[in-house]
Amino acid sequence: MNHEKMTRKEFLKLTGAAAGAGVIASSGLGSIANAQSSDLLHRPIHSTGEMIPAVGLGTALEFGDLSGDFSKRKGAIEALFREGGSVIDTSPTYSDAEQIVGRALDELGARDKCFLATKTSIRGKQAGIDQNTQSFKDLRTNSFDLLQVHNLRNTDAHLDTINGLREEGKVRYVGITHFRESQNDDAVKVIENNKIDFIQCQYNLLDRSVEERVLPAAREHGVAVMINVPFARGGLFGPTAGAGLEIPEWSKDFGVDTWGKFFLKFILGHPDITVIIPGTINDYHVVDNVGALRGRLPTQTERQRMVQFIEDL
Ligand SMILES: NC(=O)c1ccc[n+]([C@@H]2O[C@H](COP(=O)([O-])OP(=O)(O)OC[C@H]3O[C@@H](n4cnc5c(N)ncnc54)[C@H](OP(=O)(O)O)[C@@H]3O)[C@@H](O)[C@H]2O)c1
Repeated sequence: MNHEKMTRKEFLKLTGAAAGAGVIASSGLGSIANAQSSDLLHRPIHSTGEMIPAVGLGTALEFGDLSGDFSKRKGAIEALFREGGSVIDTSPTYSDAEQIVGRALDELGARDKCFLATKTSIRGKQAGIDQNTQSFKDLRTNSFDLLQVHNLRNTDAHLDTINGLREEGKVRYVGITHFRESQNDDAVKVIENNKIDFIQCQYNLLDRSVEERVLPAAREHGVAVMINVPFARGGLFGPTAGAGLEIPEWSKDFGVDTWGKFFLKFILGHPDITVIIPGTINDYHVVDNVGALRGRLPTQTERQRMVQFIEDL
């Protein structure tokens, strides 16, 4: 990925502003706006100040099915870049997702446009090293933007390896992931006791458990936050879109015109969130999801109303 860097002054100005209800990258920020050439919400990775679009693409669930339609999955990736997104999250354990992403990036000539995140997802230090080697091959790249310890499995051993890869210039950012409430305390301990750049965790209108300790710890230690499972694995659509429920009129005030945007704007309205990675194999859902980066974000009062609305269903 080509990375635009900011001056410290610009970074502080933006992060300060981001502590409010969210920032559109182009609003009154001159050179940053020009550097990003888009009106999409970007958020900073705290450890460097690098700005990334705050919605990307996840590749779990159906994405990794090699027997499925490759061109459809490639189309979803193409749509991500066309719409101004860049972050893709994958894993060697998402069936053949790494092979599919690697082939698509190759065919699209898009590796430089992509902030590519994958994981070490196996027990044992040497097994992790071997798995990383295969991931480089499958993703057809010499470097990852982010390499994460998957689900806090063998965290110490794998962080040691990933930090080594960073020293070799093969990894730019180091992270951990989890998605279970029962692992929140362990995630906080890793944040407190290690130098990591990213934490990936679950946050959505049905599971807000990370608000209590994980997000405050990430803020305190300057760790960027990547959100997985933003739609509760699609479960949020059942009682809303699936039931034919109309989008609440009041949410149109902050640019919501689909249920997908309703759920994503709720998450983006939390100032500690850096990027969300909704999973989809459909280009039109990518367009919808990246579209959540336009327009204003809900205020904290409006976010409370969103929580209440879902709880009342
Ligand atoms: N521990 C970990 O590290 C961990 C754990 C879980 C997930 N993750 C990561 O987080 C990503 C997101 O989680 P997830 O994929 O499990 O669940 P999710 O993003 O909460 O939900 C995905 C589901 O939402 C649907 N969808 C996506 N955009 C939509 C839209 N705009 N309108 C309507 N439906 C939409 C998708 O259907 P279609 O495909 O039909 O569009 C898919 O069924 C994963 O792909 C993975 O990269 C990481």
